[in-house]
Amino acid sequence: MKAIVNTRYGTTDVLQLKEIPKPTPKADEVLIKIRATTVNRTDTGLRSAEYFISRLFIGLFKPKMNVLGSEFAGEIEAVGKEVTLFKTGDFVFGLSTEKFGTHAEYICLSQEGSLALKPSNLSFEEAAAICEGPYLAFNYLEKINIQKGDKILVNGASGSIGSSGVQLAKYFGAEVTAVTTTKNLRLAQSLGADEVIDYTKEDFTKVNKKFDFVFDAVGKSSYFKCKKLMKENAVYFSTELGFMYQNVFLPLFTKKVLFPLPKDSKEQMLLFKKLAESGQLKAVIDRRYSLSSWTCTQV
Ligand SMILES: NC(=O)c1ccc[n+]([C@@H]2O[C@H](COP(=O)([O-])OP(=O)(O)OC[C@H]3O[C@@H](n4cnc5c(N)ncnc54)[C@H](OP(=O)(O)O)[C@@H]3O)[C@@H](O)[C@H]2O)c1
Repeated sequence: MKAIVNTRYGTTDVLQLKEIPKPTPKADEVLIKIRATTVNRTDTGLRSAEYFISRLFIGLFKPKMNVLGSEFAGEIEAVGKEVTLFKTGDFVFGLSTEKFGTHAEYICLSQEGSLALKPSNLSFEEAAAICEGPYLAFNYLEKINIQKGDKILVNGASGSIGSSGVQLAKYFGAEVTAVTTTKNLRLAQSLGADEVIDYTKEDFTKVNKKFDFVFDAVGKSSYFKCKKLMKENAVYFSTELGFMYQNVFLPLFTKKVLFPLPKDSKEQMLLFKKLAESGQLKAVIDRRYSLSSWTCTQV
């Protein structure tokens, strides 16, 4: 099968289109023919080993995983002999956050993993684009136990995680203020944001409003800059490590900062399917970074 392979860290120049062996499903696995995948921020970070510390887990000198890609939508081509949840021909979507490997024509995954039947109203491309962002945003929002009426500010509201954060926060009944750039203000409103702030015209950390939660979904701010926006028991969380890994260490000293480690699950995929089918979760696809004609890309 064809796959995009990287055997060393670096820029996109390290990516090569290669022939590699097609996998065979084990007893509890399904073989998925990938019809759409994405190139997301996690892929670019892993490809370049952007955070040196990440090499402790992904390979000190060269990558242990040679095919990146964590999001996919596709068709089940074969099933292992113990598989009961899916059958050949099912259209599915999901995540592969441990072994990655979706930048290939085929992948084998456990039937119990983070995969579900594709939302019937979404294309393969759209379905692939509502996996990682919603999964990361959901992990944060679940951790803070967001409630109806809570006020949340989402910075980076047009991105994969941010756009999911806006939509899921609305699903949980929160009042959402979205921070984005001029060209994406309408997009944020269409996703349900109650208020929008254009960061190219206004410093959102100086607005005269207080929030229960500040979600920096792009890591361009910090807890210290956002403190003024926070109510007494408010919580700040960011998708980035922050200056000198501060977002990892601050939770040790204050309950006002959280940095949860995300965990994906089939239950999440089933929720995203339900929300997509009821129009409460839309894919935000950015094709600026197209990799090849058979990969749908989103960054
Ligand atoms: N914690 C984790 O496990 C984890 C996993 C994946 C990614 N991440 C991190 O999470 C962040 C977001 O990831 P993503 O996949 O959502 O990225 P993405 O899809 O590229 O979205 C980033 C968004 O941020 C917006 N943006 C850029 N500069 C901004 C600024 N100064 N202020 C406000 N918004 C700005 C961009 O849109 P505009 O240009 O329209 O503003 C873009 O839509 C990345 O920094 C990534 O490293 C964390």
